[in-house]
Parts: sequence; structure tokens; C-alpha cells
Amino acid sequence: MRPFPLEPEALARFVRQCRELEAGEWIFESLTSAEAAGLVAAGSDRGAGRPGAPGEPPGPRTAVESRPDLDGNRLPDDYGGLKEIALTCTRCRLAEGRTQVVFSDGIPDARVMVVGEAPGANEDRTGLPFVGAAGKLLDLLLASVDLSRRSSVYICNVIKCRPPGNRNPRPDEIEACAPFLRSQIELVSPEVILAVGTFAGKLLSGSDRPLGKLRGEVYSYEGTPLVVTYHPAALLRNSGWTRATWEDFQLLRKVLDQS
Ligand code: URA
Repeated sequence: MRPFPLEPEALARFVRQCRELEAGEWIFESLTSAEAAGLVAAGSDRGAGRPGAPGEPPGPRTAVESRPDLDGNRLPDDYGGLKEIALTCTRCRLAEGRTQVVFSDGIPDARVMVVGEAPGANEDRTGLPFVGAAGKLLDLLLASVDLSRRSSVYICNVIKCRPPGNRNPRPDEIEACAPFLRSQIELVSPEVILAVGTFAGKLLSGSDRPLGKLRGEVYSYEGTPLVVTYHPAALLRNSGWTRATWEDFQLLRKVLDQS
């Protein structure tokens, strides 16, 4: 079976990134390793940060005039101020059980913003999103399209505090946390948003369709292109979604290249 419908450039990128991440075995039934290595050598490197931004210090670069508000109060229009308020938030019951607020990882002037669901135990402990097994898979998928949280991606969640026992976020918790996510999107001002999983996909697309029907299209979140895909944790449980997820990441790359 041929795992992915690859163009040479995409294959080159995938193989090169697998090597860099020491991701172990990768097998292509229709290619010899010499052919794959040749393609790797020919693979393009599109660079990392936003075009025209080399050397700029991290930080939001877009002036935001109207900010989402929190209980009638304007949220700060600077990234540091927003984060400071989020880190001490007690707007919902999740504040009681958390170790810490998980605000984000990656760079605040990223081209791509990944939005997940909610922190799990590892994230609650470290304060960083996507640090467990699902996070490693996310990093690998991002790397396969030449993206990384070190140089081109900002990662956060719909919900910033761990729900007890990793249960699903409740509607009132999503509502309480939404102003932070909206502000993050405005301040980071990414070129493309990638929503992983049902909660982020539905919230940002505004559609109630199940994820399998939601993915595969490009939506607009207030003018920013939005791609929706399976949550990496779901992918770890159901490898049958690997091909679709791969296609979604290719779509993400295509939208980014066209922006
Ligand atoms: N799953 C998520 O949706 N977010 C995380 O940060 C970790 C796991």
C-alpha cells in the first residue's frame, strides 16, 4: 500500500523532517531508499517565519483596535498584558483544579496558529500545550510541512486549564475562555489557523458538522483562512485517519504558500 499521495517536493520534506526528528522507520512501498534520498536532496526549504520578518523580535506586529472584552472590560491590546490576565484567571470552575494555566507555546509572530482542545496532565504540569504523545505527533506532522513551534507556529487551546480527568470541556467553560482565544488570534494575527479536533474545529468554523465532514475545506475565521483536522490524540487511537490528516496538513501548507 502506498501511504500518501505524494508530490516529490512533499515527500522530500517529509523524509528530511523524519530524519531531523529521528522519527524512526518510514517506509514507501513505491520508492527505493536511494530514490527517496534523491528527492530529499532536491526538496525545497521555504524558510520559517513570516515573509519579510527575519530577525524581528518575537511579538505581535498587528495593531489591534477593537479587543474582545471580558465581563465588559477591555482585554489588554498587548500580548504580555493578555497573558498576565489569563494566567490568574478564575472565570470558571476549572481554575480550582488546575496546577497552572496553559496559555501557549511557539512564537507570537507565527505564520501558523494551531488551536487544540484543552490541556492534559502533562500540560497542566509543565504549563505548555501539547507536550505529551499527541504533542510529539503534532510536531512531526508540522515538521512534515516544514513548520515548527520553534520558528513558525504558535500553539494554544480552546480551554486554558485542564478539565478534571481530561473530560470534555463544557459549553460554559468554552464560553468563559473564548475571549482569550479570540484575543490571541487577533494579536498573533496568523496567516492560517489550524484547528485540531472537534472542539476547536466547531468553535472556529462556526459549524456543527462532525469533524469527518468538517475537515478537507478551507474556512474563514474573521478573514483568516482556517483548516480543520483530526486531533493528534484521536489519530494515535485511530490510524485510519492518518491519510486524511496528511492531506489536511498538505492543505495547510498550500494555503500558507498562497497567502
Ligand atoms: N490535547 C490538546 O488539545 N491540547 C493540549 O495541549 C494537549 C493535548
